[in-house]
Amino acid sequence: MEQDREQARQVDAIRRLAREHDALILAHNYQRDEIQALADITGDSLALSIEAARTDKKVIVFCGVHFMAESAAVLAPDKIVLLPNPEAGCPMADMVTAEGVQAMRSKYPGAPVVAYVNTSAAVKAVSDICCTSANAVQVVRSLPEKEVILIPDRNLGQFIASQVDKLCHLWPGYCPIHDELLAKQVAICRSAHPQALCLAHPECHPDVLSQADKILSTGGMLDYVRKSCHPQFIIATERGILFKLQEENPDKEFIFPDYEFICHDMKRVTLDHVQRCLETLQPRITVPEEVSRGARQALEKMLAIPRD
Ligand code: 13P
Ligand code: SF4
Repeated sequence: MEQDREQARQVDAIRRLAREHDALILAHNYQRDEIQALADITGDSLALSIEAARTDKKVIVFCGVHFMAESAAVLAPDKIVLLPNPEAGCPMADMVTAEGVQAMRSKYPGAPVVAYVNTSAAVKAVSDICCTSANAVQVVRSLPEKEVILIPDRNLGQFIASQVDKLCHLWPGYCPIHDELLAKQVAICRSAHPQALCLAHPECHPDVLSQADKILSTGGMLDYVRKSCHPQFIIATERGILFKLQEENPDKEFIFPDYEFICHDMKRVTLDHVQRCLETLQPRITVPEEVSRGARQALEKMLAIPRD
């Protein structure tokens, strides 16, 4: 009880600081519940990039992982972008370097590089266009070439390859959190809940995706469940999504496979971090202009593609 009152006081203090600094608080769908509850806007990688690009606030507090705040800094170069805990990274984003991308280009000359947003700005800068899990198939379809390079997620890459009529060269990266969910764990969950619809994130292994009824980004899952009359869902993605799923659909049931579906990087941001970063306006995420220019082009090309 006293703890709840203390947290409510802290949230008030953070909101006051955000007003004083003209700050917008963005939170990814995998953030801790209290961070999602605090945020002005929650969403998937695509939705948050769009918000960062269009806000007229002076400061963006990005509650997420490093590559997300970096994209915000690239898309909003005149803003102060804060990542409350600078240690929040993404192991998949670290699996590819700009040199690696150049090596792929030499191997497959003429094939455009499509970079999943889960990459560093330096990698985006040497790519042709970005994609997120919400628009990856559309992005690849929009390219005139019949051959493409997809980095860094082999699972997302394989999913895209199954949806487009193009030769896809994949980088062998993966998300350790999604990739380790076993097909067997999903099968057990499906047979225990035969009426449930199974929604899976495209970062999951193809053997998991082949059992899913729908393959969706986190934002896609939230939209789908909101519009569906189905009462029960198996969710194959990080558990943080449960906060919004339950808030928006109190009468529906959500089941996770028997697996520790937690991205510890996403959980690194706490209310204390958010408060401290608004008190000090640190740590700021900046991207050198020579890198930012190329990364911005790749991100803006993606944002120019009309959404379904
Ligand atoms: P979304 O774009 O679907 O939110 O996914 C981001 C991510 O990091 C998934 O692991
Ligand atoms: Fe990266 Fe996976 Fe965490 Fe998403 S869930 S931020 S891809 S480690």
